[in-house]
Amino acid sequence: MIELRDVRKHFAGAGGAALDGVTLSISRGEVFGVIGPSGAGKSTLIRLINALEKPSDGRVEIEGTDVAALAPAALRALRRRIGMIFQNFGLLSSRTVAANVAFPLKLAGVARSERDARVAALLDRVGLGDHADKYPAQLSGGQKQRVGIARALATGPDILLCDEATSALDPETTRSVLALLRELNQELGLTIVLITHEMEVVRTVCDRVAVLEQGRVAETGSVAEIFAGATHPATRRMLAALGA
Ligand SMILES: Nc1ncnc2c1ncn2[C@@H]1O[C@H](COP(=O)(O)OP(=O)(O)OP(=O)(O)O)[C@@H](O)[C@H]1O
Ligand SMILES: [Mg+2]
Repeated sequence: MIELRDVRKHFAGAGGAALDGVTLSISRGEVFGVIGPSGAGKSTLIRLINALEKPSDGRVEIEGTDVAALAPAALRALRRRIGMIFQNFGLLSSRTVAANVAFPLKLAGVARSERDARVAALLDRVGLGDHADKYPAQLSGGQKQRVGIARALATGPDILLCDEATSALDPETTRSVLALLRELNQELGLTIVLITHEMEVVRTVCDRVAVLEQGRVAETGSVAEIFAGATHPATRRMLAALGA
């Protein structure tokens, strides 16, 4: 569903390339992890998938379409198919939970009555039905991320990109958010690309994983393969940090 073919990304003024020849293939319906240390190029990779950045070289394709070549209207349509959640939740602090979730629907021109119905259903789905009129500051971190997930799903995407979505959460809250993501993956057939620097997150929720180091894929495989027989030093270091 998502293909990166020999993708290179170099930022003007930067020393080395942020991504240096990355080739990856992510299948429909899988939870695909990308793990690597700070600066490895993980966020850059995600921003290339939703065409917030263009590759300096190589291609990023979604269902065979080169996303960097899309005209504005097609790009807007693509973005409605791709939800995104962030480490710092990215909620609008002056708006209620319901208004945050409604925001992308408003942008998409969805009528008020349909918007209200969809927001209510989404908040119920993420377990926040009783919190619609609260403000983000009145919520726990886990609740904020559930709002972020509901907002990301508002336009009915089939791809969800998660950039360190649980890094600000304690271990128990992390587990509950990951469990929710897994349920959504199974119920909606959602394809999830999950960026993390934590092996535990990969072990809990991913089907397959790519290990990124200094802009290159060090290794890729099923989570079972990586945990059983990681060969690359970068992977072994991350496993060692976990005590695995
Ligand atoms: N807009 C930019 N302009 C210049 N350099 C950038 C830009 N964005 C990222 N980089 C550089 O590209 C490299 C990869 O950055 P990226 O944010 O993708 O890493 P990351 O793996 O997400 O790291 P972290 O775990 O800290 O979030 C870094 O060296 C970074 O400084
Ligand atoms: Mg990052």
